[in-house]
Amino acid sequence: MNAPAKTEEFAVAQVQAKIPDGVYAETVLAVEHYTDRLFRFRMTRPAGFRFRSGEFAMIGLMVGDKPVYRAYSIASPAWDEELEFFSIKVPDGPLTSHLQAIKPGDTVLMRKKPTGTLVLDALTPGKRLYMFSTGTGIAPFASLIRDPETYEKFEEVILTHTCRDVAELKYGFDLVHEINNHEFLHEIVGTKLKHYPTVTREDFKYRGRITDLIENGKLFADLGVPALDPQVDRGMICGSTAMLKDTKDLLEKAGLVEGSNNKPGEFVIERAFVG
Ligand code: A2P
Repeated sequence: MNAPAKTEEFAVAQVQAKIPDGVYAETVLAVEHYTDRLFRFRMTRPAGFRFRSGEFAMIGLMVGDKPVYRAYSIASPAWDEELEFFSIKVPDGPLTSHLQAIKPGDTVLMRKKPTGTLVLDALTPGKRLYMFSTGTGIAPFASLIRDPETYEKFEEVILTHTCRDVAELKYGFDLVHEINNHEFLHEIVGTKLKHYPTVTREDFKYRGRITDLIENGKLFADLGVPALDPQVDRGMICGSTAMLKDTKDLLEKAGLVEGSNNKPGEFVIERAFVG
């Protein structure tokens, strides 16, 4: 009679034995699928795990008997008791083909040291902070727009999010809705946060690549703000390799200088992954 239970216990022990040393093994709390390409999940946060809003961590799963990791921006803010991640689903992706199947109760691995350049400390003081994102590149900004420090440092925060179609914008719309209804964040944020969603492959109120909208001035006209000015404007960029390069070129053309953790500047880029 005891045989099945023993087998199960043995299987659990085996799985636990395989978890590599020096990494956190956390429990999935919630999973939400947006489209066949995008999903988010929330998991437990290890007691001693500290990070700055906007940083990324290496997230992984045991695939067979080997851990497979990929860089993921932490989408939840530094004060949150849980950790949130926003992910693409790559059909044959070494990690995401497995990660997209996770369910509450499953174990996700996380390496212990977070890092990254999309942090407030890497920017010199300014008045208006632009966060330029495409696709899952919105993730580090999901963290930063939920962090009160962002609004202490900037008078205006503009989050641009460009996706192929409207369904892919939902994560961003949900975020802004959450902030506006949050018990303390909505007072801190007030009217400082402007969300500028655009799509490139479907009809919508705002259309076009963010690079085109910067170049032709429509972004600024729509928002009712002046063109980019290194005296007041700061930028953060997160998206595909091509988007990072094209957006960086435009910010440099406007006179903004790239910064880093060691040498704060007028804009920063995350090069650790393609999102
Ligand atoms: P497009 O539809 O014109 O390619 P993806 O889902 O492929 O990561 O793309 C996310 C969004 O980023 C899409 O709307 C895409 O527009 C846009 N995009 C792709 N390349 C660039 C680029 N070099 N500069 C700005 N936006 C880009």
